[in-house]
Amino acid sequence: MSRTTPTRPGWFITLEGPEGAGKTHQAARLRRALLAGGRQVTATREPGGTPIGERIRGLLLELNAHAAHDPRTDALLFNAARAELVTEVIRPALERGDVVLCSRFADSTVAYQGYGGGIPVDDIRTLERLATGGLEPDLTILLDLPPEVGLARKSRAEVNRFEAAFDLAFHERVREGFLAIARSTPARFAVIDATPPEETVFEAVRRAVAERLPALARSVGEPERPRVRTPR
Ligand code: TYD
Repeated sequence: MSRTTPTRPGWFITLEGPEGAGKTHQAARLRRALLAGGRQVTATREPGGTPIGERIRGLLLELNAHAAHDPRTDALLFNAARAELVTEVIRPALERGDVVLCSRFADSTVAYQGYGGGIPVDDIRTLERLATGGLEPDLTILLDLPPEVGLARKSRAEVNRFEAAFDLAFHERVREGFLAIARSTPARFAVIDATPPEETVFEAVRRAVAERLPALARSVGEPERPRVRTPR
């Protein structure tokens, strides 16, 4: 759910998308822009971001050692890491008034373990509520691109278990999953084409933040203006 009047001091923005969409680069640019605009920023990522979360990340992403996970195991582990991150990092930062930028969050579990892995989406949302206590992003930026384009952007050294162990059809379902979530909750989502050069994509990210969260418009160097459209 998105909000126009703050109910907590900070702002929670997530970046989502298939492999190779450029979430890390865009999050870093957005962080720099917000810092330059005078905001306090907490930038983090999933899975990870806490000592326990980083250990869970190792279990989840290492190649070879744990190649054949049951998707339910993955869903539980991602949510275990998420519970830590929400309690230890995200909620305290929002209470301080920070802008929290999180690269991947609960929508990734719906897209990967739900649409990709076949777990019923309702079950995943139930786990999510347990892990997050109902915390939802104010804005989710979906960096969308075809999986073959995204996967081709990754070097060998960057490949994790999800890229190595799942076929293109899995990654197609993940992409469709993200787009379906965006269609079902349009007020929370900005869907951005991630195929152009990084600089062009960032201009769209900046505009989306300014348009959806007018309180942050000046901080990202855009004039404050009323919200004009909702994506379909
Ligand atoms: P990471 O190296 O962080 O990749 P990226 O830069 O693409 O975010 O790896 C995270 C991997 O974990 C990625 O392949 C997606 C997967 N994932 C899930 O399957 N479910 C989840 O809930 C999350 C958060 C990530």
